[in-house]
Amino acid sequence: TDRYAVIGHPISHSKSPQIHTAFAQATGQSLTYTAIEAPLDGFAATVEAFRREGGRGVNVTLPFKLQARELATHPSEAARLAGAANALKFEGDRILGENFDGIGLVNDLQVNLGRSLKGRRVLLLGAGGATRGALLPIAQQGPALLAVANRSADKAHALRTDFAAHAALQSGGYADLAGEAFDVVINATSAGLAGEALPLPAGLFAPGALAYDMVYGKGLTPFLRQAREAGVQTLADGVGMLVEQAAEAFLWWRGVRPSTKQVIAALTVPLA
Ligand code: ATR
Repeated sequence: TDRYAVIGHPISHSKSPQIHTAFAQATGQSLTYTAIEAPLDGFAATVEAFRREGGRGVNVTLPFKLQARELATHPSEAARLAGAANALKFEGDRILGENFDGIGLVNDLQVNLGRSLKGRRVLLLGAGGATRGALLPIAQQGPALLAVANRSADKAHALRTDFAAHAALQSGGYADLAGEAFDVVINATSAGLAGEALPLPAGLFAPGALAYDMVYGKGLTPFLRQAREAGVQTLADGVGMLVEQAAEAFLWWRGVRPSTKQVIAALTVPLA
């Protein structure tokens, strides 16, 4: 039986074992998938021990995604551009690194939520690792505009520079958004985890806009509440992104793409 795991700190709340076990059952794949908490100063040693014991691959979550990218001997372009990896695959001496967070988000938006990004005005809030991972897959869908707004505008400008060869981004602070409207607004900040709302200008959401919060299982977050109060009718949290990135990792490891619909339904917590 092939072994997989998710490594993070903390890890007890991870849904990944449940998701991958459901995928394995549905596709008839023989594997085990466990959760491993690595010490904060022991990520590489934990990966190495798992690999020596016969592990075939791991998912990586907070706070180790940057270290996972560094540990990968063969990072994908997505992992290199994101500066982070959320999945590793062991092949002999090689450690392949991937980042499926962005494609997971795009699949959730376009397939599950039925929102094509092509020709639309798309806004990412935040300029940390979560935004970095999402930019390339979104840009590849051909949005009319892809903007990044961040509390510290300098970090958003730095992203625009870093991605210049791949995407034409608009960057700035929240106040710079005044007078602009977007069809898809994605919260990739951690402000909501501290219970904080973002200083979003009035009129930010275009008629019929979708508001997406990357966090999951927290119900109506401060950002989703803001969006609803601004009249947005389509609200989504990140549960679909979580399951879709897992499906991409499963495909990468096992060569079979599991269907995600039932797993998403099982993990969905009502927003209101
Ligand atoms: P992640 O990897 O989850 O993206 P991160 O790299 O620490 O985490 O980035 C956190 C993001 O949330 C940043 O964009 C941060 O804004 P700053 O770069 O200006 O710090 C944003 N953020 C966190 N708390 C916030 C708050 N209270 N208001 C607005 N933005 C916040």
